Amino acid sequence: MIFVFVVSLFATGVMAEEKTIIKVAIGGSAIPSAKKLAEMYNESHPGVDVQILEMPDSSTDSLNLYLQFFEAKSSEVDILVVDVVWPGIIADHLVDLNKYGAEEIVKDHFEANINNNTVEGRLVAMPWYTDAGLLFYRTDLLKKYGYNEPPKTWDELEGMAARIQKGERAERKEDFWGYVWQGNAYEGLTCNALEWIYSNGGGTIINNDKEITIYNPEAVAAVKQAAGWVGSISPESVTGLIEESSRHIWQSGNAAFMRNWPYAYQLGNAADSVIKGKFDLAPLPAGDSGFAAAALGGWQLAVSKYSKHKKIAADVVKFMTSYDAQKYRAIEESYNPTIKALYKDKEVLEVRPYYNRLYDVFMSAVARPTTVTSTKYNEVSALFFRAVHSVLTGKDSADNALGYLQLDLQSVTGFETSSPETK
Ligand code: GLC
Repeated sequence: MIFVFVVSLFATGVMAEEKTIIKVAIGGSAIPSAKKLAEMYNESHPGVDVQILEMPDSSTDSLNLYLQFFEAKSSEVDILVVDVVWPGIIADHLVDLNKYGAEEIVKDHFEANINNNTVEGRLVAMPWYTDAGLLFYRTDLLKKYGYNEPPKTWDELEGMAARIQKGERAERKEDFWGYVWQGNAYEGLTCNALEWIYSNGGGTIINNDKEITIYNPEAVAAVKQAAGWVGSISPESVTGLIEESSRHIWQSGNAAFMRNWPYAYQLGNAADSVIKGKFDLAPLPAGDSGFAAAALGGWQLAVSKYSKHKKIAADVVKFMTSYDAQKYRAIEESYNPTIKALYKDKEVLEVRPYYNRLYDVFMSAVARPTTVTSTKYNEVSALFFRAVHSVLTGKDSADNALGYLQLDLQSVTGFETSSPETK
């Protein structure tokens, strides 16, 4: 007995010593399936122990942490999740995955994602999932208040949200709100505000010709309209909400509409969710431009240049972004794949029937101005979300905030402003 114990202790000790530990930094809601993928990889690679390091939920907070890791050239993190807007900012700290065999598999992914992750000819990250802003709406409540379909315009959304909110409050649901979204001063607000502005014909902050376009009447009107939601159809606290906190209000049954990303679909339909089976997805509403806009989001996996195990880490990345891994995540957690064939996979479509209906929304999502601003994108975005936040919190008027923003963007980027008719 004692002998067996000693032998097994010895065996475990030796095994543990031999294993190569690969640390993967992942944020928030992506953690459960990332853990599962790590387990799968570990099972088939006895010499490797893939571990998940939990990062903050907010993209802005994660980037700041990574920048500190990189500054210290820390080997603590081997693999990191990379927001679609970061490749230009952190490319220098990441390995070229083409040197580790990624070249052969990139053709399976959407070209736009691969292009986004290729910086000066180096593939610095493999696409893991793609995101597009969507409107979540309560089918039961729309029916109850006599609406046949979700709102097509922001004005319609305002009207419907206000009416449903009034009706529900009258039934003693004091905490009920019409519309929740992400209004905190962080990257998520850049996405929300870009959607309001672009769908109102107000452009993309900076255009592809490196002209600053943000100070225009359509953009001003869109931000002004959104500021009017705070404290009326949206709680005052919306200016502090991020994805997960807005989802919690929605998933506790306290909102008629929510703007969020696809991941919230599966969570809302979880066995213990009070809104299970009571909601659906639609494109976000259109503004005066007549078309709807979804911000393009998504995350990639990359290997840090400071990792001590780059080759194994690259192999883990290839596994975690593979067809089977993306299929698992699409089915278990409703993350949108970046592998084209998965949008035609029968088992995926069975649980994600909206892939067909919303395919165009996913494909035509509007990119934030990362390509033209490259390493300066995070500064540009921070100036933008702070300006919008000051309007939402009543500290400034939309006209003033966007006017000053234009000047600040000029000094950060050195770009010219556009002529009034170009956006
Ligand atoms: C989602 C998107 C990401 C975006 C972030 C903002 O995670 O995928 O691209 O930057 O939301 O909060």
